[in-house]
Amino acid sequence: MELELRGITKRFPGVLANDNVNLTIRSGEILCLLGENGAGKSTLMNIMYGLYTATEGDILIDGDVVNFDGPGDAIAAGIGMVHQHFMLVPVFSVAENVVLGVEPTLTGGVLDIEEARDDVRKISGQYNLDVDPDAIIEQLPVGLQQRVEIIKVLFRDAEILVFDEPTAVLTPQEVQEFFGIIRKLKDDGKGIIFITHKLKEVLEIADRIAVLRRGAVVGEADPATATEVSLAELMVGRPVELKVSKADADPTDVVLEVRDLDVLNVHNQLAVDSVSFDVRRGEIVGIAGVQGNGQTELVEALTGLRESVGGRVSVGGVDLTNASPREVHNASVAHVPEDRQRSGLVMSFTLTENFVLDSYYDEPFSQGIKMDWDRSRQEAGRLIQEFDVRTPSSEIPASNLSGGNQQKVIVAREFSRDVALVIASQPTRGVDVGSIEFIHERIVAERDQGAAVLIVSSELDEVMALSDRILVMFDGKVVAEKRPEQTTNAELGLYMAGASSDG
Ligand SMILES: Nc1ncnc2c1ncn2[C@@H]1O[C@H](COP(=O)(O)OP(=O)(O)O)[C@@H](O)[C@H]1O
Ligand SMILES: [Mg+2]
Repeated sequence: MELELRGITKRFPGVLANDNVNLTIRSGEILCLLGENGAGKSTLMNIMYGLYTATEGDILIDGDVVNFDGPGDAIAAGIGMVHQHFMLVPVFSVAENVVLGVEPTLTGGVLDIEEARDDVRKISGQYNLDVDPDAIIEQLPVGLQQRVEIIKVLFRDAEILVFDEPTAVLTPQEVQEFFGIIRKLKDDGKGIIFITHKLKEVLEIADRIAVLRRGAVVGEADPATATEVSLAELMVGRPVELKVSKADADPTDVVLEVRDLDVLNVHNQLAVDSVSFDVRRGEIVGIAGVQGNGQTELVEALTGLRESVGGRVSVGGVDLTNASPREVHNASVAHVPEDRQRSGLVMSFTLTENFVLDSYYDEPFSQGIKMDWDRSRQEAGRLIQEFDVRTPSSEIPASNLSGGNQQKVIVAREFSRDVALVIASQPTRGVDVGSIEFIHERIVAERDQGAAVLIVSSELDEVMALSDRILVMFDGKVVAEKRPEQTTNAELGLYMAGASSDG
């Protein structure tokens, strides 16, 4: 099968999201689509999947123009899509999710769950997906939920599969397993469109690379000759510094003090197990670890989002054990949360409203009981400039921005006041290289202005590049402490898998 996008243009009010794009994908190849956040990748894929209608241009399958009135038409034509944010029903089983909307039925319209189970088992076996048809979605780790999405697409007989930033939520090991899966799909004759901002991944897996910038295809690159540096430049339109440049740390007073902290997870199990560490003024401490080893609960406890059940936390000598988020904020703590859609932004609020989200009750934005919106909008405009947020205006809802730009809104809000402590979780998850460079620079700047900085990231490269000191978490405990210059990714990887530093 050959799928061609010919002269595709898509305009949203005030935004040219796709600009005369020509792109072809054939069976049996992996095409990587690279581009900064907001470059128009998801829009293009949504057009190909029948979710949006192109303003101009055609979609052709094997040379014939097709018209998609909705995803149903695209699916019928053999196109499948694994979305950036999964669209599974959390309380349903795998089998129920896979057949949702196309249920095999017994006479009388009853769902034939046996047949659904068999189908899941068959597809799972064929591609080594290792998915249990009876598992409940919300109890599966993200990596397995993604495989359910893949099964769902294959169940509908997709020939071309689109993956929108599939590796953003995966651990390094899960990424390798995922690559195994898409190589198998390719060998089986499927066409794969793989969207990512990770240059290493592109070079590892692509047969062809197309780069999108500001809505237009600015070039195709050959994975045999391309380098990370050349791809980054093509993507951003200027040379990009891929290494973090920073002076040696000069740590002074202890700002964050964590002692014997115990925190339970949502299942009431001990997720943080007697953890103790300090973060000093003028240093960046990075916590490395495979997701699910207590990092999330640790940060939630430090920022007032979850109660601890033992131990204590202080910032600048002030006890903040089980303080509220507002009390933590008032103690000059900035927080860039892990899940920006859930706890970082109010998606239906405008950018201006999001910028003043946690300072609306303070001057200068509040005059007595009345908000000073002119003042707020002015400040929003300034932050949009300074933090390079790509948006047509400060008065559109946050939900309209791409992920990386949403992250910049949070960083802008959190870093625009003087803080003693910065806590940043997965600060660049799902963010493109241009914005990663920018966010990393801002984090180092916070350190150099005298903040204590704690970052938590499941990207080992990021922890290595940013940190002055690295703590590795495994199974709720800090199992190793290293300086980046004294260790390697391989060694940290061992600690992340449970090896202990004293044996
Ligand atoms: N539904 C929409 N309404 C208005 N603007 C949109 C909508 N969807 C995307 N955009 C805008 O189109 C541009 C491209 O977005 P998108 O395709 O999501 O980029 P990418 O996936 O490459 O990050 C961005 O400027 C984004 O803000
Ligand atoms: Mg996107």
